[in-house]
Amino acid sequence: MSGVIKFRNLTKIYDGITAVDSLNLEVKKGEIFGFLGPNGAGKTTTIKAMMGLLKPTKGSIVVNGEKISTSAGISSSSVGYLPEVLDLWDNLSGEETLRFMSDLKGVSRSEVEKLLHKVGLSRAGDRKVKGYSKGMRQRLALAQSLLGKPDLLILDEPSTGLDPSGVAMVKNIIREHVDRGGTVFLSSHILPVVEEVAHRVGIIVEGKLRTVDSVSNLRDQLQIPTKMNILLSSNHKKVEKYLRKSPMIKSYSGSKNMLTVTCNKNDKKDILDLIEECGVDVVDFDIKEGSLEDIFLSFSRGDM
Ligand SMILES: Nc1ncnc2c1ncn2[C@@H]1O[C@H](COP(=O)(O)OP(=O)(O)OP(=O)(O)O)[C@@H](O)[C@H]1O
Ligand SMILES: [Mg+2]
Repeated sequence: MSGVIKFRNLTKIYDGITAVDSLNLEVKKGEIFGFLGPNGAGKTTTIKAMMGLLKPTKGSIVVNGEKISTSAGISSSSVGYLPEVLDLWDNLSGEETLRFMSDLKGVSRSEVEKLLHKVGLSRAGDRKVKGYSKGMRQRLALAQSLLGKPDLLILDEPSTGLDPSGVAMVKNIIREHVDRGGTVFLSSHILPVVEEVAHRVGIIVEGKLRTVDSVSNLRDQLQIPTKMNILLSSNHKKVEKYLRKSPMIKSYSGSKNMLTVTCNKNDKKDILDLIEECGVDVVDFDIKEGSLEDIFLSFSRGDM
């Protein structure tokens, strides 16, 4: 897979504040890349620099083999961009907005109706945008990013203001996009969505890229414990003494027949066996592997 986006030492300093500090990163063709970080970490600054909307203090960005500059900008027909905030024209309808933006982008108007349908705005397409709710505006903004079937989608907080069906729609749009060979660079605070769709994530904190990897590799590297809730055939006190003694158990809590332990992900089966060896049956259990949220919090708290 070849690099579609290449950041080389990207640095942006605003009035003495280093928003992005020597960012080196490569995003490959066909990849869904989740760009994560706490508020003020430098995500939007990075994305704006990638779109040629602000001038880096140092470093460079290459997208689809072309060096980005504020004078030339990005070749817009091959890139779909959803900004963090999109100013819309209140007096245009949703449909007129998409037609107008097709013209600005130099792409056919033929997809407008289909895109309104895709983002759930078919029935509101002829209404003026000034009457749109926050989520409807976000849906329209998302639709404009898809005009012209771009190869690369750059989405800055696509789920902002969306209801649960809207969040599911964003996931589908992202998956469909890569299924037909596209690439997605996504910034989002909705970590379960990123965990579900992203091939790799990068975590930026105070302008510095702290890590880049797949969620499953990060989970292993950081040894984020697995949590198991276990329903027993009798009171947990019958197994408590044995489990607390076991080096496999990182934390233990129990109430009546219910037991919650944290452990290494490879020890799950041995713990269930240990319970049965104590003469207590496991009636049911569920497992929660360390989540992207746990990983994110480790980095943003500064533990890592
Ligand atoms: N135009 C600007 N002038 C001065 N400082 C700015 C400007 N834009 C951003 N910053 C600063 O740069 C840093 C990074 O901001 P940025 O908007 O890139 O963060 P972010 O990661 O997108 O945060 P959020 O999750 O809140 O959207 C912050 O300290 C912010 O205050
Ligand atoms: Mg931002």
